[in-house]
Amino acid sequence: MNKKKWGEYEIAGNQEINKNIYEILLEGENVDIQPGQFVNVRIPNQFLARPFSIADFDKNQIHIVYKVVGRGTETLSKEKVGNNLKVLTGLGNGFDLDEKTTKPVLIGGGTGVAPIYYLARKLLEKGIDPRIILGFRTKEESIYLEKFRSFKNCQIAYESDHLLVTDYLKENNYDYFYACGPKPMLKAISELTEIDGEVSLESRMACGIGQCKCCSTETTEGMKTLCKEGPVLKKRLVKW
Ligand SMILES: Cc1cc2nc3c(=O)[nH]c(=O)nc-3n(C[C@H](O)[C@H](O)[C@H](O)COP(=O)(O)OP(=O)(O)OC[C@H]3O[C@@H](n4cnc5c(N)ncnc54)[C@H](O)[C@@H]3O)c2cc1C
Ligand code: FES
Repeated sequence: MNKKKWGEYEIAGNQEINKNIYEILLEGENVDIQPGQFVNVRIPNQFLARPFSIADFDKNQIHIVYKVVGRGTETLSKEKVGNNLKVLTGLGNGFDLDEKTTKPVLIGGGTGVAPIYYLARKLLEKGIDPRIILGFRTKEESIYLEKFRSFKNCQIAYESDHLLVTDYLKENNYDYFYACGPKPMLKAISELTEIDGEVSLESRMACGIGQCKCCSTETTEGMKTLCKEGPVLKKRLVKW
């Protein structure tokens, strides 16, 4: 059971790392955070807290990579180092690290690459060196390329070079997949691969804790709230 907890976090960094894409470092209590989980960040002057995936987590520092798409993320991008933000941690079901896989492939697209990094790091800690495929529209939208350099087996597909992550998936030397990114990408991966896997889905969210039902999604096993029973769902559960 995930322990949900509001905490006061100090901004230790908030930097533009590529065009309109920022990395914010939030320092606070040392909590238990699993790859694929997300946090709700209360942004000044915004009624609803905004959900963001964990890009990395170390001791008491949460890393989030976010794209500026509207008023909330615009305001967040202007927050200064040293300011405090309220953050609700322990949200969602993350990636399943207990899956019996020895040759997993990790696929990330756009800002969906961020949670794939934390997952890759956790798998490496377990002695599994995963194969990684990252996809971006253009080089200007890429993230974390330096960080992924520490992984032996990492390929990058830029749409601007007429390459998609699925072009690299055609070789069949993996036994499980983990994916996060735009829905059409996740659908294409699920349809192309015969192996089992899991995908992190996005939806508009409000409460983030399974109460308002605004993130309810139809699955092969009935309705599920993506904030509580997701955002990561097994491939067989997803109704595309
Ligand atoms: C579980 C989860 C994890 C997420 N992780 C990240 C992350 O790591 N990095 C990141 O950049 N973003 C992430 N998002 C999306 C992020 O929450 C939204 O971009 C953010 O809330 C937008 O706030 P805003 O006020 O700037 O935009 P708004 O003014 O609220 O919206 C601006 C535009 O973005 C669209 N939009 C807003 N939220 C979503 C959403 N959840 N899904 C699809 N479209 C949306 C709106 O339809 C609108 O067109 C995640 C969302 C979820 C549900
Ligand atoms: S956001 Fe309220 S139930 Fe999921």
